[in-house]
Amino acid sequence: MQEFVGLSEIAVIAETSTQTVNNWKRRYKDFPKPIAQVKAGEFYDKEQVINWLKRRGKIMGAKTIAFINLKGGVAKTTTTVGLATLLAGTYGKKVLVIDLDPQTNCTTMLIGEEKWQDLNREGHTLYTLFKDALSETDDFDIVAALQKNVSNIRDVKNLDLIPSSLDMVDLQDKIASIPQGQFYSNNPTEIIKRAVRDFKNDYDYVLIDCPPNMGLITLNGLRIADGYIIPTIPDVLSTYGIPQIINRVSKFSDTIGEHIECLGIVATKVRMQSTLHSRTLVELEKGNDAPLFETIFYENNQMGEAAEYQAINTLRQKWGYQGQYDRLESFAREVMTKMEG
Ligand SMILES: Nc1ncnc2c1ncn2[C@@H]1O[C@H](COP(=O)(O)OP(=O)(O)OP(=O)(O)O)[C@@H](O)[C@H]1O
Ligand SMILES: [Mg+2]
Repeated sequence: MQEFVGLSEIAVIAETSTQTVNNWKRRYKDFPKPIAQVKAGEFYDKEQVINWLKRRGKIMGAKTIAFINLKGGVAKTTTTVGLATLLAGTYGKKVLVIDLDPQTNCTTMLIGEEKWQDLNREGHTLYTLFKDALSETDDFDIVAALQKNVSNIRDVKNLDLIPSSLDMVDLQDKIASIPQGQFYSNNPTEIIKRAVRDFKNDYDYVLIDCPPNMGLITLNGLRIADGYIIPTIPDVLSTYGIPQIINRVSKFSDTIGEHIECLGIVATKVRMQSTLHSRTLVELEKGNDAPLFETIFYENNQMGEAAEYQAINTLRQKWGYQGQYDRLESFAREVMTKMEG
């Protein structure tokens, strides 16, 4: 339900004066637009205001980032999990990973295949949540689905996961073919938003691994995202869809009246000897579509093997000693700077 707030209430939420809120309103072009103007003053959508305050670092709250590329196999999952383990393990952040991809790679990287099988059998995955939305059932149990303190790395604490399911493959097609009006849920892009509303802000970071398309499941991720990152191999096919992604997110952002910032493109699986990769990197560095993260992830066997779920002690052991850990660390720092200033 939409809630309205006036400037003085915004001041209370942000623990500041109404005068300061008035200054923000004048100073920041992206300050939410009032949705009603009455004698008593201007009224704003409370949720939009809270998201703005959070984005500007005026109040605490989860910083939520979606990882998207229309191309498969560009290291979206590896980058999501890598960043999550560094934020939690190295920087002591409380992190939630939401696996929206029916391929469930992120899930099996973080809890292993066996545990996933158990959860899937019991219906404790996002499959049940989306199935509920389609079939007017109420079976999803977020408490049972939310996996606490996951990851196979001993040093990583405070990393939680909401798992995906392979069964979402069929659901994804069904969802795509159903007209909006036929959803039980009155807004099919807010299924995830409602599911995490009560606890999302207990986290410092929420990272969302999206499937390689811009369908409804991805839009559910974007609906709660403050920003998104586009991992890409610097080659022709992987970078081809980037302008389209940016365009689509921007349109969606306008539709929902929330700013979703393109945090940047991150180059993955880079081959030093490849002239195509070097040329594409030069193009990406120009930042015509979006800024390029300074950190580059080179093609490396150990990063490729990181999907394996087996007990490991330290993050360096997990990601590797030939600079892979250090690159993840500098990537995490870049992300934190963008999100926290
Ligand atoms: N830096 C790297 N060097 C070598 N291999 C890598 C690297 N990063 C990821 N990989 C491997 O590349 C493959 C694709 O990576 P990943 O699964 O992370 O991509 P994705 O974009 O999530 O794919 P999908 O679209 O299928 O979800 C995986 O086998 C992964 O282990
Ligand atoms: Mg993936």
